[in-house]
Amino acid sequence: MQGEIEDVELELLLEALYLRFHYDFRHYARASIKRRLLQARIQLGFATVSALQEGLLHDPSMLPRLLNYLTVQVSEMFRDPSYYRALREKVIPHLKTYPSLKVWVAGCSHGEELYSLSILFEEEGLGDRTIFYATDINPDALRAAQAGIYSLDLIKKYTENHQKSGARSSLSDYYTADYGHAVFDKSLRRHVVFSDHSLVTDAVFAEMHLISCRNVLIYFDRDLQDQALGLFRDSLARKGFLGLGSKESLRFSAHADAFADFVREEKIYQRIDR
Ligand SMILES: C[S@@+](CC[C@H](N)C(=O)[O-])C[C@H]1O[C@@H](n2cnc3c(N)ncnc32)[C@H](O)[C@@H]1O
Repeated sequence: MQGEIEDVELELLLEALYLRFHYDFRHYARASIKRRLLQARIQLGFATVSALQEGLLHDPSMLPRLLNYLTVQVSEMFRDPSYYRALREKVIPHLKTYPSLKVWVAGCSHGEELYSLSILFEEEGLGDRTIFYATDINPDALRAAQAGIYSLDLIKKYTENHQKSGARSSLSDYYTADYGHAVFDKSLRRHVVFSDHSLVTDAVFAEMHLISCRNVLIYFDRDLQDQALGLFRDSLARKGFLGLGSKESLRFSAHADAFADFVREEKIYQRIDR
């Protein structure tokens, strides 16, 4: 009974979030969104999900706090180094044939994936001909991505990952240490456009040569995954590349025919039907 009521309240809250703020979590994988909402209810101090909904609608400070529960921000620089090695060795040689490039990092979180790609492109001599679009729905995450400051405790792991990706430089060339933090060089974002963009409710970004969207689709249900993959298909230039996370695949999606495996084990695909 209690569980049933909670399920109804949950539906209503997701609907309210959409109607009032246009954040659409209605088709996220249900079990994990429910877990995170219930955690938010407790930690934000509400007795019921309905009370949380009332707070959300009447207290402007509540939306960003709730978003930080509903969106998972786990990330890492050069996460899965073999993905970056495959980009370096197999994708970059193709990208080098273009005079200018557009790269979309969708669901960029605090920027770890963006800075990894920016460093990779610098190392491969493509920094000056590339524009990066770094997007996310969480404004706090976008602000952190723009700042490019990470705890020094994380840097050992990031340095190891970078080396395993086939680094041509030292990670320390790209940051300065400052009171327990690594402050990444502004030059890495000289050609970056940061933007609030939802893969659920917003439009196509056209003519990308590479879209890297890792560990975002795992939070979506099947229909929403298809919708996002359709958006990627329509945003890619002819023969453009799409990189997904290690637990993600487009093989069983409605858009599988629009792509070919490019580096199968790294979930890197190429758009084939234009
Ligand atoms: C687990 S992080 C992935 C970070 C990074 N891509 C990586 O693989 O390390 C998931 C990110 O997706 C973002 N996200 C969730 N729903 C989204 C949506 N509808 N559109 C764009 N980004 C979304 C979250 O805010 C979060 O920053």
